[in-house]
Amino acid sequence: MFWSNTILAGLISWGTITFAQQDYQRVLSKGDSRAQIGHLNIDSRLNHFPCPNAGGYELYTDGLFTPVEDLSILSETEFTKLSHPEFPRYGVRVKKSTFCDETVKSYTGYIDIEARHLFFYFFESRNDPDKDDVIFWTNGGPGCSSSMGLFMELGPCRIIDGNGTKFHPESWNSNANIFFVDQPIGTGFSYAGHGESVSSTKEAAKDIAAFVAIFFSNFSKFKGRAFHMAGESFGGRFIPVFAAEVYDQNKKLEQIGMTPINLTSIMIGNGRTDFYSMMLSYYDMACTPASVAGPLLNIATCTRMKQMSLMRSLQVPRCKKWMKASCLDQLDPTSCRAAVKFCSQELEEPFYTSNKNPYDVSRDCEGEYGDTLCYPVTKHITSYLDRPAVRLMLGVDPSITSNFSSCSVEMLLRFAEALDEFPLTYHYVSALLDRGIKALIYVGNNDWVCNQVGNERWTLEFEWSGHDEFSSLPLRDWLVEGKKAGVTRSAKGLTYVSIDGAGHMAPYDKPKETLDLVNRWLMNQPLDQL
Ligand SMILES: *[C@@H]1O[C@H](CO)[C@@H](O)[C@H](O)[C@H]1NC(C)=O
Ligand SMILES: *[C@@H]1O[C@H](CO)[C@@H](O)[C@H](O)[C@H]1NC(C)=O
Ligand SMILES: *[C@@H]1O[C@H](CO)[C@@H](O)[C@H](O)[C@H]1NC(C)=O
Ligand SMILES: *[C@@H]1O[C@H](CO)[C@@H](O)[C@H](O)[C@H]1NC(C)=O
Repeated sequence: MFWSNTILAGLISWGTITFAQQDYQRVLSKGDSRAQIGHLNIDSRLNHFPCPNAGGYELYTDGLFTPVEDLSILSETEFTKLSHPEFPRYGVRVKKSTFCDETVKSYTGYIDIEARHLFFYFFESRNDPDKDDVIFWTNGGPGCSSSMGLFMELGPCRIIDGNGTKFHPESWNSNANIFFVDQPIGTGFSYAGHGESVSSTKEAAKDIAAFVAIFFSNFSKFKGRAFHMAGESFGGRFIPVFAAEVYDQNKKLEQIGMTPINLTSIMIGNGRTDFYSMMLSYYDMACTPASVAGPLLNIATCTRMKQMSLMRSLQVPRCKKWMKASCLDQLDPTSCRAAVKFCSQELEEPFYTSNKNPYDVSRDCEGEYGDTLCYPVTKHITSYLDRPAVRLMLGVDPSITSNFSSCSVEMLLRFAEALDEFPLTYHYVSALLDRGIKALIYVGNNDWVCNQVGNERWTLEFEWSGHDEFSSLPLRDWLVEGKKAGVTRSAKGLTYVSIDGAGHMAPYDKPKETLDLVNRWLMNQPLDQL
């Protein structure tokens, strides 16, 4: 999920939240009285947890202190605690699980990084866990739990109704071992000791790099295995920054005699990697045939949008120019907020008069956005994760007593306050590509909020060593079982793919096609050839 400024402004009657300092302070100072919007809690538990080091671990057995070659010796009812001499203040609590996919071994637990605790689900591959690659998955937000990806999109099971989990045949663990991580701390079942919080992607990246290093060093059978970092939506910003941190960390790992992480690729689904091209694309999506639903808004509105987004006399993109001048060239928080607020009002907001689902323009929003995020299934996931028996089975830390939030508004506010989204994230993508890390940029064609127009545009325009070759290529069809599934362009390790008939959560809408895409990506097979 990506939280649009406008969605939030509509959700919470406090005005355009992202830019209102006083509202942000109000939420953060709410103390125990947690504001709730539908099932989306403004969750301030970050501020209330006692530091778990003061006894929290006593709940779990302090188990093995050697690398675990065979994870399946772990207990199902208790955590095994692992630690590492090079990371004295880091640890892992992990337990075996039988839920979701009985055909594979699965584990849940926390990676503890001092007072920060990141919750993860890990499923082994249905094919060959001893040889298959490892995928790291995160949802976006910022602040949305990866359980959304797991139970709604690409995990080994789905939650469709109130009956619990259902086996999902098109899961991405078909040919890979896969993690789902609730991050940053404060998201989903991840938590932190008093005073700890994360408000930027760069900070979150440090925790993720530590997480990855600890996981691979202590689950030694996966050591050196090809590793892919994947994410959706705001993951378009998270993943390039996280992967860069993991890449840079390798030098340190080598120095202390640890096996480097075999980072092989990044995968971004319906990402918001480039804030600027996405903001401008809202005109194309609402007013031109670029959207599968055709021009959604009337001519009067579209003409206004065009005029406001351009400087009338020069016909240069006014929004782009203003935002770049104040958010990038010379970061001036006040003027950056003013520019983004103006452009958001002129370019994003008009869409909401159409009552379309912002994650899928081919349909209307089901339910109230604040209650269902347009997908009633999200409520079933939330109530499943609120069941005490489920929390016990997963090993959710007992200090987490609040209702589950699929997305934490507090996290969004922290990141917005820190102006996290405005630096150019594609520089990380070019740096990774230039070092041989491949990048897959896939986009469900029906999405509006992180749409194909904005994504195709930045992939064509950004600077990297393969720019000329990549941008000179035409788009070509890619096929699944002989049927056109979308279009693609690929050169020098960068692949752009669109997926027909899919919205923001592409694997939810097109499970067969997205699994085929991922399998071919893992096997290094070109998409535009059969
Ligand atoms: C974790 O891995 C490191 C390096 O392989 C090892 O020295 C350490 O003992 C391991 N710890 C556990 C608990 O497995
Ligand atoms: C559980 O599944 C049954 C059979 O598929 C269905 O009739 C019932 O409505 C489901 N229960 C809930 C709470 O969704
Ligand atoms: C990284 O993974 C690739 C793909 O599986 C493999 O060919 C390569 O040998 C691995 N590299 C290392 C250093 O283990
Ligand atoms: C959790 O959700 C239940 C059911 O929706 C509600 O009755 C309860 O008040 C909520 N608890 C908290 C702490 O918000």
